[in-house]
This record gives sequence, C-alpha cells and structure tokens, in this order.
Amino acid sequence: MCGIIGYTGRQNAIPKITAGLSVLEYRGYDSAGLAAAGNGRITTIKCCGRVKDLEEKLRQTEEIITTCAIGHTRWATHGGVTDRNAHPHTVGYVTLVHNGIIENEKEWRERLTLDGYHFSSETDTEVAAALLNRAYQKTKDPLQAIYGVLEILRGSYAFAMIFADRTDEIYAVRQDSPLLIAQGEDGCYLASDLTALVSYASTYCVPDEGVVVRLNQDGIFLCYKDGTQKEPIYQQSGMQHAAAERGGYDTFMKKEICEQPQALRAALNGREAEGLPDFSINALPTDFFDNVHRIHIVACGSAMHAGLLGARLLERDTGIPTTIFIASEYRYHMPPKEEGTLLIAISQSGETADTLAALRAAKARGIPVLAIVNAENTAIAREAAHVLYTHAGPEIAVATTKGYCTQVALLWMISLFLSNRRKTIAQDTIKERLAFLKESAPKAISAVIARESELSHIAERLDGHDRLFYIGRGRDYALAAEGSLKLKEISYVHSEAYAAGELKHGTISLIEPGTPVIAFCTEDALAEKMLSNVREVASRGASVTVLCKASLSSLFLQSAVVFPLDCENDETAVFAMMTAMQLIAYETARRRGCDVDKPRNLAKSVTVE
Ligand code: G6P
Repeated sequence: MCGIIGYTGRQNAIPKITAGLSVLEYRGYDSAGLAAAGNGRITTIKCCGRVKDLEEKLRQTEEIITTCAIGHTRWATHGGVTDRNAHPHTVGYVTLVHNGIIENEKEWRERLTLDGYHFSSETDTEVAAALLNRAYQKTKDPLQAIYGVLEILRGSYAFAMIFADRTDEIYAVRQDSPLLIAQGEDGCYLASDLTALVSYASTYCVPDEGVVVRLNQDGIFLCYKDGTQKEPIYQQSGMQHAAAERGGYDTFMKKEICEQPQALRAALNGREAEGLPDFSINALPTDFFDNVHRIHIVACGSAMHAGLLGARLLERDTGIPTTIFIASEYRYHMPPKEEGTLLIAISQSGETADTLAALRAAKARGIPVLAIVNAENTAIAREAAHVLYTHAGPEIAVATTKGYCTQVALLWMISLFLSNRRKTIAQDTIKERLAFLKESAPKAISAVIARESELSHIAERLDGHDRLFYIGRGRDYALAAEGSLKLKEISYVHSEAYAAGELKHGTISLIEPGTPVIAFCTEDALAEKMLSNVREVASRGASVTVLCKASLSSLFLQSAVVFPLDCENDETAVFAMMTAMQLIAYETARRRGCDVDKPRNLAKSVTVE
C-alpha cells in the first residue's frame, strides 16, 4: 500500500526513482509522482495511472537532472484517484511523500483552514505537509520542525521529506509503516521495501519508529530528538536481485505459480531432523508448543485461507482446538482469555496492518505469538516472539500464489511437529507425510502446471458468465475459498465459495440453467456426499466442473466435466488442487484481458486498518 522511494548521491536521481517506483508499483498503482530537488528549487511531476504514465509525462517535460529526489506510487485512502491527490505534496518549503493514514487529519484540516490555509487536495498528506511547513517557517530547523509535527499527528506513516532550501537532503521517519534505508556505492537510498533496494545495496537498516533519518552527501544518520545522531547499523539482505524480476515470464503471477515447487522445498528445507519436523534452525525451543492447549490463527485474505486449511489439519492431527480469525475482527471480539493459548499470525508481506493490530492485541493480553511471514524483517516478523519464514522469495504479483502455498506448507509442518511431540500420530506416519510434503507435493504441482492447456479449457467454460460458485467439503472447502478469492481478485468475476452441504440451505436458489459451479473433491470419505451436492446443482441446470482425485473421477463423470488430479495422498492432493485453482483464475483473467499482476483497486500489502 503506497510505495515511497528516495535517493540522494552522486548520480542522476530520476532514473533511480522511476526504476524504484516500477519495482514498488505492486504496493499501489492509482497514481505515481516524484519531486526533484536541485538548483534551489523543487520540481514535481505526478499523474494518475501507472509508473509508465509518469515516465511518459517525464519524457514530455524538459529533462530534469538532479542528484536528490523522492517518489511515490499511490493506493488511494483519503481522496479520489486524481492528479491533485497524487503525491508528492508541496506546501511552502516542504515537499513530501507518505505511506499511511493520518487519523486526526480532519481536526488539523479544519484548524489550518480557519488559519487561512487553502487546501489543494483532499489528502491527509497535504495536512502533514502544511503542518510541517508551518513549523519549518518558524524554526528553519528540519529536525525540530519534524519532531514538533510528529507530536501532534496521530496515525501511521512513513514520510520522505525534502525542503526547498536544502536541496541535497532527504529526511524520513516512520510509525507503523515500513521504511528501509541503505547506503549504496553512489549514494543513499530509502524505500518502502527491500525489493527496491537490492539492486543498489546488499545491506539495509530499518530505522526505529519515530526516529528521524537524514540522508545527504555525507551519508545516512539517525537523528534523535535530543540532538544526538548515530550511524545506522546495517544488516545483510537475504534477497537476490533476480528474484524480483519477471525472468522471461509474461507475468509475475505466472512466474510465481511456476516457482511453487522450489518455494515449497525452500519452505521445508533445513526444518527436519532424522526425517521428522524440527524447528531448531529457527531457534524455536523444542518445548515451545508443549503448554499450548488452544491455537488462534489470525490473518487476512489468502493468508486467512491458508489458516483455514491449517486449522483443519492442526485439529485433525493434534487434537488442539484451533480457530481461525479474520484479523480485522479479532481485536474487537477477542475470545475469553484462556491459559495455554498460542496465536499464529500469518502474513506474506509481514506488514498487513489488520494482522499487526491483532498480533499486538494478543501480546497485550499476554498471549505468545508465532508469526509465519515471507518478507524478511518486517513488522509482524519483528514483533512476534518467534517467526518462521516461508522463504518463498519476493512475491510481486498482487494475488498471492507461492506465498499462500508456503504458508500452507509451514502450517502442515507445525501440525506434524506437534503430532510428534504429542504422539498423536505414529512416528513412521509422520516421517512418511513429511516425505510426501518434501518430495511428492512439489512434483504434483509441476504435473498440474504441465496441464495448463486443459485448465484453460475449464476457464473457457466460464466465458460469458459473471458469477459462479465454488463448492467443497472439509479441506476442499478451505481450498475452494482461496480458489474463489483468486478468481475474484484477478478476473473480476463474482464468485462465492460455499461449503457444499450448506448450499441447499438457501443459496441454491441462485442456481439457474447454465450457472457455472466448480466443485473440489479430494477426500475419499466425503466423496459420496459431494456427489449428492454436485447432483443437486446439476439437476437444476448448473454447468458443473469437478476437480477431484483421479480415483474419484468415475463417480462424477455423469454429472460434470471432470478434471482428474493425480494425487495419491493428502499432501499431493492439496498442493495439486491449489495449483489447479490458481491456473483457472489466471487463465480466466487472461481470457478477459485483465491486468493479472495489478488487479484494479488492490494493493499487495495493506498497511492501513
Ligand atoms: C491484501 C492483498 C491480499 C492478501 C492480503 C493479506 O488484502 O490484496 O491478496 O492476501 O492483503 O496479505 P499478507 O501480506 O498479510 O499475507
């Protein structure tokens, strides 16, 4: 959600800013803009649309050469998607970009208006710029002005700020929003996330919340409120440059679907001892789960669906009552306090504000938190007592695929680990299941990817339809929930995932001749009941497609078009099914000409509640 970038150094800043914005664009793509500082003035170029539209505007403008600039790619929160609301915002001496939300903006907007200030945008960011300019006019000291304004602002922010009379300096500060700084060979950088920095530096630092950072020709300094300053302590980045590139694929989403076999292996790699799950490499004490009697899982979107599936596995295999909560609901309706509760927070980006808020609410109650996160050193990873990284590599497409895949894999590992500790499953079975996860599941994913053209025919069956249903029972329902979300996210077809047995209790009234229904069935024990549900909709004219275990195909052939999955165990069934549903969504979106990587209205990580 909103990407910010800044550079000051010895090179021309503009290509660095536009390249950085292209990388950060997945955080929001309603509008883009940059401000260049130089020759005693600030030049701002911004527009609605994508970074390529900004680049086009730059081409039509007199070339700007500068060694200091800031940039922004927006996901609108306050104010519509207009050129005026695009960042950067300038008030007097101050030009700034912002990721986050100023919660008391209304109050300050009214007060500044009474003082005679005329706002030119509807954004909360302009309020911050106006307050900062007012403070700077009085003090002419950026640090004093920034610290003064931070005292009166409420909300979340990462700001990058430049001042008209200090054109080689950038100031930055964060609160509950991501911000990283890095010293490159040719200058100093700041960005919302690592992907924009990896080309320039192999180390980075996450400044503490509320500490103002100054970047100039002398380097990067953490400037404290008491006037002292320190050099940042940098840490090595684990990210490879090439991992954030498309690498010959048409889209990042396709690339990331195809990367799932290796992502799955990377997620499990090193977390095994003598054929059994082992998290000692993550410094997770062996007895960490021993006093756990209840598990709460919090997450949003696809991560929540991974939790839904994980909760079923955990309860089935370990007997520990496990409940999945939508993160944005959790802290307003926390279940009664119970000793022995563990919270598992799941987030690909590690930044999602709703999940972070739920994590903090749990911590405030004394509930220990284990995080499952992909992006390294992000807020959720830092604030949890323990973190298990999914090691999926950078995920750029807004709709998650390999992120979700590895979250499911880790939840499965945790479930096997607990089953071993509690002796709820025989050790040999645990070893066998872990081997299925490590060896058979990646192969099952590749086998489905190789059948892409068949899945394209299934997508073709959705042509001309603007609503459909996904149905499943048990873990297939959890998979259907994710399949349905994937389709909605990228193809804009309205679909609803239903527990197959529940459809008849009302929603079946929406089935008309031709309504597409996609049914999942990988659980033998539920197959006959699924068949009844498929027949119920087929007899009312629905056009049913069944994705099922190959051994169950014959059951459904009379009522549906069947896509059989070669999967002989639970592990391969789940990962094969998730790949198939991702490819159905992908093919449907492509057939409709949708921008698969950057679906409308969405952002990869949502850092506001
Ligand atoms: C946003 C994205 C979703 C994603 C959700 C959770 O809403 O648009 O695709 O599933 O956030 O993201 P996280 O980074 O916490 O896994």
